Amino acid sequence: MTFLYREQQLYSENVPVEKIASQVGTPLYLYSAGAIRRRFGEYASHFNSEGSLVCYAVKANSNQAVLRLLAALGAGADVVSEGELKRALAAGIPADRIVFSGVGKTVPEMTFALERDILQFNVESEPELEQLNRIALSMGKQAPIAFRINPDIDARTHRKITTGKSENKFGVPASRASEIYAWAASLPGIRIQGIDMHIGSQLTESEPFEQAFHCLRDLTHLLREQGHEITVLDIGGGLGISYEDGAPEPPSLAEYASLAREILAPLGCRVIVEPGRSVVGEAGLLISRVIYVKQGEKRRFLIIDAGMNDLLRPSLYDAHHEIMPVRAGNGETCLYDVVGPICETGDTFALNKALPLLESGDLLAIKNAGAYGAVMASFYNTHPLVPEVLVDDCEFRVIRARLEAEQIIAFDSDF
Ligand code: LLP
Repeated sequence: MTFLYREQQLYSENVPVEKIASQVGTPLYLYSAGAIRRRFGEYASHFNSEGSLVCYAVKANSNQAVLRLLAALGAGADVVSEGELKRALAAGIPADRIVFSGVGKTVPEMTFALERDILQFNVESEPELEQLNRIALSMGKQAPIAFRINPDIDARTHRKITTGKSENKFGVPASRASEIYAWAASLPGIRIQGIDMHIGSQLTESEPFEQAFHCLRDLTHLLREQGHEITVLDIGGGLGISYEDGAPEPPSLAEYASLAREILAPLGCRVIVEPGRSVVGEAGLLISRVIYVKQGEKRRFLIIDAGMNDLLRPSLYDAHHEIMPVRAGNGETCLYDVVGPICETGDTFALNKALPLLESGDLLAIKNAGAYGAVMASFYNTHPLVPEVLVDDCEFRVIRARLEAEQIIAFDSDF
């Protein structure tokens, strides 16, 4: 298993976490290669019909070593910037397995992606389509596209990661699909190949997916009747993971995949799926050391060396991440508010968390931090940028070194 105690010590695969922390220093992100491979393998085996493609959402964790590991397993990529596209290509993901999403693709980004002949542009607006047509024509090319359709479905997730409601900035309304596809078909620099949808992230129920798949199916029928060749259905990502012990479990990957198959397989399209969190989320820990135990007037604070600059999710989305001690206790516990060193009250990882009695220097592991962790880290308060470590069986390697304060300061220049 990925992260388990052996003789009271937390291990990542076959390496004690304490050994890594003492060699690399804390805080640090720790990923299990085995867990990522296993999870991607499950995706690949569930989406295994002719031409189906798992395009890993690079934004969730874009470390080159992670991308390379996925590339070796045949992953495609969903990218949202030229930078992510460059990362995916550099990691060996072929351009014809890369889809480009995002509401604000710029001229240089489109040009770069067209030069590389990527698999698909997921177009999110009419001005974007117009721009893409113009650039493609100037390069003597045709851009392969799907429109991202906004189906006005409530994904029932946190409002900041809901993307499929009509008030969200994403996609074009389903009600205007006929008109927009007809226009796209008239543009010589554009080649329509499919339909795209992504209604949000961290979905914990099947029903919104089911509604989205039905919408995709109905639109495929409609657009085909209108003479469009629809051969690709990109169903987005969004499958949630279980962050909180005891909270309702999200649908399993098997359930999610069979729902997609049941509703979409009869259409005979190539299905693209863009998972991020559900591939890497559970495969990562944020390891941190206790700096002080501070007894306040009303609460006991565990002040740790990881902060909201390292893992933003709790302060940005009130997200819950389980926390466990790296050395298991003897059963006796104490309630702590687990907080970081950053000068903001929002720099809080947990309130009233029962943990073994801890003291300065002890290590903690913040769970499910493999997705939207390191990628959203910053050096706020000029804390060094958190390093990343990959463990594979008995070996571990630093896959992004800590960016030290001197290096961060050197980014600035005098007037
Ligand atoms: N495809 C598109 C077009 C997306 O925008 C996203 C995520 C994905 C796929 C992957 O979704 P996933 O399978 O990871 O749910 N920072 C937030 C999550 C933002 C998700 C943005 N888009 C968080 O920490 O919860």
